[in-house]
Amino acid sequence: MDQHLPQRDRLLTSSRPLPDFEAVGSNGPWLHLADGRRILDGSSGLLCTNVGQSSPAVFARIEKQFSRYSFGGAAVVQPHIQMELMDRLCRAVGRPEDSVALTTCGTLGVEVAVGLARNIVRVRDGKRRGDILTSSLSYHGNSMFTLGVAGNQIRNPRPEDRYGLGPAFPAPYPPTHGHDGHGCDAACAEEVARAIDSRGAENVAAVLIEPVNGTTGGAFVPPDGYLRRVAEICRERSVLVIHDEVLTGLWRTGAPLASCHWEGCEPDLVILSKGLGAGYTGVGAVLVSPELAPLLRRKGVDPLPAMGTMATHPLQAAACLGVLDELEAMDFGAFSARGERLGTSLRSLTGRAPVREVRGIGHLYGVEVAPGLLWLLMEECERRGVFFYPFTGAGDPRSEGLVVAPPLNSSEDDIDFLTAALTDAVGALS
Ligand SMILES: Cc1ncc(COP(=O)(O)O)c(C=O)c1O
Repeated sequence: MDQHLPQRDRLLTSSRPLPDFEAVGSNGPWLHLADGRRILDGSSGLLCTNVGQSSPAVFARIEKQFSRYSFGGAAVVQPHIQMELMDRLCRAVGRPEDSVALTTCGTLGVEVAVGLARNIVRVRDGKRRGDILTSSLSYHGNSMFTLGVAGNQIRNPRPEDRYGLGPAFPAPYPPTHGHDGHGCDAACAEEVARAIDSRGAENVAAVLIEPVNGTTGGAFVPPDGYLRRVAEICRERSVLVIHDEVLTGLWRTGAPLASCHWEGCEPDLVILSKGLGAGYTGVGAVLVSPELAPLLRRKGVDPLPAMGTMATHPLQAAACLGVLDELEAMDFGAFSARGERLGTSLRSLTGRAPVREVRGIGHLYGVEVAPGLLWLLMEECERRGVFFYPFTGAGDPRSEGLVVAPPLNSSEDDIDFLTAALTDAVGALS
């Protein structure tokens, strides 16, 4: 047997074939290729390059910090830059009094949020167990715990690898929640109540939920009133609500947090990641409400789960401050108008074969296509100068499609280029 793998196969980074295009430069949403072509990044990399690539504002922040000192975790030197980031971030998302734990990625953000939630309910309510309930259509990261507990089991196909964990309630979307003749509505939240009650509320620390679905289903938006009812159900039972806004946070859906689209559903803890580092740095941030955070400092409480060599890295904080500089410099009126324009153009593809459905909000859309045609459509798009991230989601056969999520500061011309290329590519397959 030939023992030697080809060079590319030795890079154990993705189960999918690695892309062929070689980037030699970038600006904003555009990648410049070695063969002279340029290609528009229609999904912000892995839904993260929210302010585009190679931002001078981000570079300036990193350079300034680098010239001061390049390493100093919060336990080494005074964490001035981390506190500056904490303040800026909390104000940016309208939770100015929150406490913040910093981590190195979204997965660890979720792990830390779970640890913090367990500490909080144990010291507050003396809960016996710290169960975490998730929905059947959810992704919360790539660690053993998050893969075990979430609904996306494509990435973790073997039940024996899930440590007895798994999703607890159906997501309020048609492919996962059947109804006779009508779609999901706020009443679907009663499934969350049933899930808590069947475990016993004294055993449940938190409900962990993506307020708008990300890549597992392809940008499903919950029915009006659903998240509010989930929050009420949890409050009635002394169960915390954790929103996983790793993907949706920081204006991806058109608002600072996806939960801002509905009244009365503010979570106890929020996790941010992709849009905060915007692809410039690995980062996760867990925000804890001011009512709960003091419990984490009580005498006798379990240790904070947020420690880590590279968490609270000063260059990470500097990059994130540069990203916030970029985001806050946006003209928000024009930004909203570009989101509307994107949504209107994409929705006009609904029902045009092979497109089955278009859903989403702000700068985040799922374009679902007939099974079997996703990879062909992606090729047609790439031939026309735009690439997208694929989703394979819910139902049987599994739904599949493109996640359309360009950088938030893409221009109107960029958005028009993207939608024209996609429309043309759909036409080629009709
Ligand atoms: C909703 C959600 N949570 C958590 C994660 C994990 O984040 P990371 O890949 O940075 O570990 C992701 C990543 O795609 C995500 O979309």
